[in-house]
Amino acid sequence: MVLRFLRYNIPIVAKLSSVYICQQCGFRSSQFLGRCPECGTWNSLVETVEESRKSQGSRRLGETSKITYLSEVDKLLFDRLSTGLGEFDRVLGGGIVPGSVVLVSGDPGIGKSTLLTQLALNLNQSADKKEKSLKTGGSYVLYIAGEESAQQIKIRAERINPKADLAVLNEIDVDVIVEKIEEFSSQGAPLKKLVIVDSIQALETSDLNSAAGSVGQVRECAHRLQRVAKASHVPIFLVGHVTKEGTVAGPKTLEHLVDAVLLLEGEPTSNFRILRSTKNRFGPTDEVGIFEMEESGMAEVKNPSRIFLDTKVDAPGSVVVATLTGLRPLLVEIQALSTKSFLPAPRRVGTGIDNNRLQLLVAVLQKRLGLPLYDQDIFINVTGGLRVSEPAADLAICLAIASSLKDKVIAPNTVILGEVGLLGEVREIRGLEKRVTEARKLGFGNIISPENSKSLAQAVKLTLS
Ligand code: TYD
Ligand code: MG
Repeated sequence: MVLRFLRYNIPIVAKLSSVYICQQCGFRSSQFLGRCPECGTWNSLVETVEESRKSQGSRRLGETSKITYLSEVDKLLFDRLSTGLGEFDRVLGGGIVPGSVVLVSGDPGIGKSTLLTQLALNLNQSADKKEKSLKTGGSYVLYIAGEESAQQIKIRAERINPKADLAVLNEIDVDVIVEKIEEFSSQGAPLKKLVIVDSIQALETSDLNSAAGSVGQVRECAHRLQRVAKASHVPIFLVGHVTKEGTVAGPKTLEHLVDAVLLLEGEPTSNFRILRSTKNRFGPTDEVGIFEMEESGMAEVKNPSRIFLDTKVDAPGSVVVATLTGLRPLLVEIQALSTKSFLPAPRRVGTGIDNNRLQLLVAVLQKRLGLPLYDQDIFINVTGGLRVSEPAADLAICLAIASSLKDKVIAPNTVILGEVGLLGEVREIRGLEKRVTEARKLGFGNIISPENSKSLAQAVKLTLS
């Protein structure tokens, strides 16, 4: 009788163990292997936490899950929290959604910690003004620092805003962090709170043997944080460094786990920083926020078009295009350089545009306009470190190349808009009116668009003859 009772009790003590699983074929091994013996892939085994089947089963029985109706879901939970930075809110799709997990990634040193500290101080200060109780200490934001000490964060915070206070937790054990987040969210209104984890690569759980920053650790830690965010409705920002391969914390380990992925980018030589979302469950993915790194944190750039065009030189190969990032039209300069090539296969290099698109446009220019580009190296650059991925910039790229090849300047007050088809025709683009309005506002009176140029040849005649 006693034995049965004991046996009955065994599954309640959940035993966590780890197993190495091949990410390609699902082969399981109790130890790390450099090469999967099943499918032969190298470095594909990742350590994963495994709860025993019995304990999983008993937990499922105990859980109370029930069907809900949308009409019963509390609408309040979807009220977004403003970050106090208009550009940041725009990228998120209008503010932070309660219970969401947002990954903020970017190269080391680009300004992720600065931007998030600033956001935290902002939230605390705007709350300070509203609620007197917070004046005597207390914070709406919990900053979990895995990489830096509280002193280092204080130095940064003092540069940004010496008046605001911030709660900092120095910890790398994810299980302790989860406990602290639960404690933090249970005090006061969770809907106004935010947790920042800097960075996810520094965290670890003792349930896995692999080192912090490894794929298994990063995935498991993010998973645990995601669960606590959903349960407590406190949103969590995770900082993730872009690794050597250019992916976030290993092979896109985190992207499917989080609600939104924001990428902070910028040229090392420029002070401009561009925040874009590459995934967003609660907003658009083509919005960008533009900041400038200053002595005291990041300043929002309210009129980016003017800044991107500030340094424009009127020389052959330079054109202006009005791109539409999200809902906002943005004027950017595209430069082309066409020079004689000494290689059997001339180079076509695009910075800020898609290289395949560039190849295609060069082919169209050769075939439809008869331009002798076969012996030319062609380089394209979008100035200011911006990326232009929409086809609406096709015509501008084509005319920039033609302008450089012919060594002729396009009139400085010209904005070029239109998609180019394989037959050399100029096609309609979305949001033409918005782009034209923005261009005229900034003094560009000469608009080349599908309205006045039906073909590439016609556009060249209008601008380069
Ligand atoms: P940081 O936020 O530490 O980068 P990350 O967290 O992405 O690794 O910031 C890096 C740079 O920003 C650093 O070179 C110093 C600079 N900086 C400023 O220019 N102004 C400021 O107010 C702050 C805090 C930093
Ligand atoms: Mg940092």
